[in-house]
This record gives sequence, C-alpha cells and structure tokens, in this order.
Amino acid sequence: MRKVVVITGASSGIGKVCAEYLYDKGYKVYGLNRSVIESDKIHYLKCDVTNEEAVKLAFDSIEEDIYAVINNAGIGISGAIEYATSEDVDKIFAVNVKGVVNVCKHAIPRLRKTKGKIINIGSVAGELTIPFQTFYSMTKVAVSTYTEGLAMELRSFGIKATAVLPGDTKSNFVSNRKKTDVVDEVYGERIIRSIARMEKDEKNGKDPITVARVIHKVLKKKNPPIKVTVGFEYKLFVFLKRLLPQRLVNYILFKMYGE
Ligand SMILES: NC(=O)c1ccc[n+]([C@@H]2O[C@H](COP(=O)([O-])OP(=O)(O)OC[C@H]3O[C@@H](n4cnc5c(N)ncnc54)[C@H](OP(=O)(O)O)[C@@H]3O)[C@@H](O)[C@H]2O)c1
Repeated sequence: MRKVVVITGASSGIGKVCAEYLYDKGYKVYGLNRSVIESDKIHYLKCDVTNEEAVKLAFDSIEEDIYAVINNAGIGISGAIEYATSEDVDKIFAVNVKGVVNVCKHAIPRLRKTKGKIINIGSVAGELTIPFQTFYSMTKVAVSTYTEGLAMELRSFGIKATAVLPGDTKSNFVSNRKKTDVVDEVYGERIIRSIARMEKDEKNGKDPITVARVIHKVLKKKNPPIKVTVGFEYKLFVFLKRLLPQRLVNYILFKMYGE
C-alpha cells in the first residue's frame, strides 16, 4: 500500500514537481493549496494554510494514516524594509510561518501514530540574509528554528523533523512575489538593481527536481538531518558563513544584493 504524504503548495513550482516525483516513487500524495486542480496523480484539497479551520478540515478529510507532511507553501516580498506595509509583513508571516504552524498542529497527532516525518521548506535566504528581501529571510529563519524545536519536542514519539533549504530554484516564485512600492530615488536605484539581480539568479536557478530528490532522500532516511541544504555550492556558502566573520559575510551579501 502507498504511504501517504501531504504537501502544501503543490499547485506550482517546487511543490508540484515534488508531489509528482513522490507519486512516481510510490507515495499517495495529497496536495493542499488555494487553487483547484485536476490531476490523475495528486489528490488536491483546496486549502489556504493561513486559515486554521481550513487546515483542520483538510486533515479531517484524509482518512488514511499519514506518513509525512511537507510544508512547502510559501510566498515572497521584496523591497526596502521601510516601505513594506503592515499588511505585507502580516501576509508573509501568515503564509510562511503561521501556515507551517497550522499544518503541524493538525499533523502531529496523526504522525505520532505512524512515527512519521515533518519536512519544512526553509531557504538558504534564512541562513544568508538577503537585503531587500529581509522579511522573507526572517520567515525562513523562523522555519529553521521551528524545525529545530519540533525535532526536540517530538523526538520521544519517533517523529523526525527536517528543514530542507533550497537556494535559487526555477519556479513561479519570482512572478508570484509581491514587490513593495519602490521609492527608489531615496535608495539611488539600489532596490531595482537588487531585485533584478535576484530575479536573474532565480530564473537561472536549479531545476525543482533537485529539491524533490533531497526530500525523497529525507523521507527514506531512518535518521534524517535536522537541516539539509540543497546543492553543493549552497552547502559551501552556508558552511563558509559559519567560518567567516559576520562583518565580512554582510559585506559580501551587500555587494551582491544591496549595493
Ligand atoms: N524558488 C526558489 O528559488 C526558492 C528558494 C528557496 C526556497 N523556496 C521555497 O520553496 C517553497 C515553494 O516555492 P516555489 O518556488 O515553488 O514558489 P511558487 O511556484 O510560487 O509556489 C508556491 C506555492 O505555495 C502555494 N501557496 C501560496 N500561498 C498559499 C496559501 N495561503 N495556502 C496554501 N498554499 C499557498 C501556491 O499555491 P496556491 O497559489 O494555489 O495557493 C503554490 O503552490 C516556498 O516555501 C519558498 O519559500 C523557493
């Protein structure tokens, strides 16, 4: 019988590729997203992860034992810290942080039974703060910290929690990202330059299948790592960040995305 995996944000980008990859690897896959999608492979359930009641209803409608949940749904905003509206900030935390919390709340009692797994999609941007994407970086730090807490709290139940941290990956993330109002004469066009650089990197990013393969490996491992970065070069960046002085790391990131 196919093991059941629930993945959020399975309607596009990394989540869609991952959902189909896991189906092909023999899992039964439920996809939770706001879009309504027809598929022969994935059982899509319409669900906004920011709405706890909707998350509860989605989990209640899954009758089988659940082996794993993958918190992948996420959004971005870009622009200067000072120009982000309160609504923008609330929204990104609601999806990227509270959405993960809502899903885990309803998944944990089910995973206790199966000694299952939680995989949270963080980002290299949570390890290396990206200027003009600071709120996004903040939410991804929170995802990593939350995962560390889950791993410790749920250890005695045999539930494993892992944060998977992709770097730039080709998806619809760029087109879906909200740009805050740009008042760039104050910043001397730094915001526009920075966003253009980010978008170029993301468009030339890795194929989402690389993330799907890492997620599949985590699902198969008896003792998966608490955090795993996707791709050799990003592993190297994250490793170097730990070795180098913070001032130098910030200077390099400033030169890349802030100047
Ligand atoms: N692409 C990258 O370079 C990159 C790098 C590092 C980390 N990541 C992370 O990878 C994850 C997937 O991103 P992606 O690149 O695949 O972006 P994407 O193509 O824009 O996909 C985002 C997914 O999240 C879903 N979603 C958004 N808001 C939602 C909500 N309120 N409730 C339920 N689902 C919601 C969307 O579905 P609906 O619109 O149908 O709801 C969509 O399926 C995100 O957590 C992102 O932060 C991406």
